Amino acid sequence: MYILGIESTCDETAVSIVEDGRRVISNVIATSVAEQALYGGVVPEIASRRHCEYISATAEKALADAKLSIADIDAVAVTFAPGLIGAVLVGVNFAKGLAYGAGKPLVPVHHLRGHIAALYLTHPELKPPFLCLVASGGHSHIVQVEDYTKFKVLGRTVDDAAGEAFDKVARTLGLSYPGGPSVAAAAKTGDPKAYKLPVPHVEGRYNVSFSGLKTAVLNEVNKCQMKGETVNVNDLAASFQERIAGILAEKLLLAAADTGAQQVCLAGGVAANGRLRQLVNDGAQKLGAKVYLPHLKFCGDNGAMIAAQGYYEYITGHTADLQLNGLPTLPIDYE
Ligand code: KG4
Ligand code: ZN
Repeated sequence: MYILGIESTCDETAVSIVEDGRRVISNVIATSVAEQALYGGVVPEIASRRHCEYISATAEKALADAKLSIADIDAVAVTFAPGLIGAVLVGVNFAKGLAYGAGKPLVPVHHLRGHIAALYLTHPELKPPFLCLVASGGHSHIVQVEDYTKFKVLGRTVDDAAGEAFDKVARTLGLSYPGGPSVAAAAKTGDPKAYKLPVPHVEGRYNVSFSGLKTAVLNEVNKCQMKGETVNVNDLAASFQERIAGILAEKLLLAAADTGAQQVCLAGGVAANGRLRQLVNDGAQKLGAKVYLPHLKFCGDNGAMIAAQGYYEYITGHTADLQLNGLPTLPIDYE
């Protein structure tokens, strides 16, 4: 079964065709990230306008690359929540037109469920149940994936998302947007023990908090400036990365130990972080759990993950009519 997946929740306009939720036939991504970088973050209005411009050609290329026509597609899947609402609506309306015009079913997909489904593209043998940390620019959740369309949130951030913390710290350190890759690159030659950054206290056994950590980095920069010293950007980036990756890995592994998880996974943009991947790999092995990490090309936003989850939503009977609306927020375990 061929599912065409459309993603437009942030600054990537992405369309992909995936067979049976597992095999990527084509995967096309247009992005306004270079333009957004000029502003140090995503400007929602710019994101929406670029989606409008790019989406048709992106879908055409996805079909052409797959050597398929829309008639060969079994269903059109689209991210309908959560995300920047103006951006989401572009994808939703395009998907409606495409599905209606071709007489195909329309399948709404939750963005974070899509991030988790990126794991199915990388690991054909992976099946629920598994435990997954989903960490992106907008969310940080520890989720029990009970089945393909059944989720239970065990923990979450009480303030900033992990990716957001990377982005804000990058800005503080004068590094480019998006912050995750630029902080990770700076950290490569830095000393992770150079700065003593706090471990934030947070209520809830599996919850995390990054706002205090972000402020602690800002305080270090301000302290240096007041003393007329220059901050060691690489050392501070490395210390921050060590702390945030440590917190995320520790909470995921704590949840894994408590629940006796046999399979432990990472998903979302932050899952591309090398230090986080290493800590989770090492820790889960000690627990005797198998670790599944998404391929780097499927960590960030893409249409393939939406098509993959779209397949499982579709075979469960989760379709929508042309009244489908986009939503800026929606829990992953929505009914
Ligand atoms: O999942 P994603 O592509 O978009 C959202 O759904 O938000 O995640 C983007 C986030 C950004 O905050 C970006 O800085 C972060 O993922 N990110 C990383 C890395 N690559 C991207 N964070 C840490 N290390 C990375 N290597
Ligand atoms: Zn995302």
